[in-house]
Amino acid sequence: MAKKIIITIDGWSSCGKSTLAKQMAKVLGYVYIDSGAMYRAITLYFLRNHVDWNDVPQVIDALQNISIEFQFNPASQQSEMFLNGENVEYLIRDLVIAEKVSDVAAIGEVRTFAVAAQQAMGKKKGIVMDGRDIGTTVFPDAELKIFMTADSAVRVERRFKEFYEKNPNVTLEEVKANLEMRDYIDSHREISPLRKAADAIELDNTHIDRAGQLDIALKLAKALL
Ligand code: DC
Repeated sequence: MAKKIIITIDGWSSCGKSTLAKQMAKVLGYVYIDSGAMYRAITLYFLRNHVDWNDVPQVIDALQNISIEFQFNPASQQSEMFLNGENVEYLIRDLVIAEKVSDVAAIGEVRTFAVAAQQAMGKKKGIVMDGRDIGTTVFPDAELKIFMTADSAVRVERRFKEFYEKNPNVTLEEVKANLEMRDYIDSHREISPLRKAADAIELDNTHIDRAGQLDIALKLAKALL
């Protein structure tokens, strides 16, 4: 049987981490895991249930009532996020969630909960996981670590197009402000801030298309298999 490794893809918001991670998982026959979806689902639960995430006992209590899992949807050919049995894949992509998720993801108890689930998913290896702290905290011994970057104007433009398709009322300024805020909070929080792991390989895709980035990343992976 072919050797199975763990591939981590970290980086700033909207640099195409999930696109690359999905592409790689498909070619390699690996499982793709979107760690950001977990923080988004927890944020959705907190908002719906009026959980004050600055109040630790409330957070601990709420986390006991949260079950998050990915289920493969044959129709979309993607694995989708389920929160307590409900498919929330579409809901968690809303700007309302994006506005709050970085604050929720900075809470220690939330991170402990999500990281434990992520590490359990990596037990058998053969995964590609994207996020902010996957190569530094979740899988510090991963065989291949990629750190993605792209010029911020390009990232804003890409994310704006995505949001605009869902909601034409969204403005470029709103999307830009949200990305800047998330990047700031994600890289300045106390616990597991966004960092390039010392042994991660940087991939700047400002001027590289999807096929080009896949080519680079697959060469890196195949050299380890
Ligand atoms: O990748 P994303 O945009 O769906 O992630 C949503 C938020 O979740 C992001 O702003 C920061 C947080 N996050 C995190 O703190 N650690 C991760 N491993 C993944 C996401």
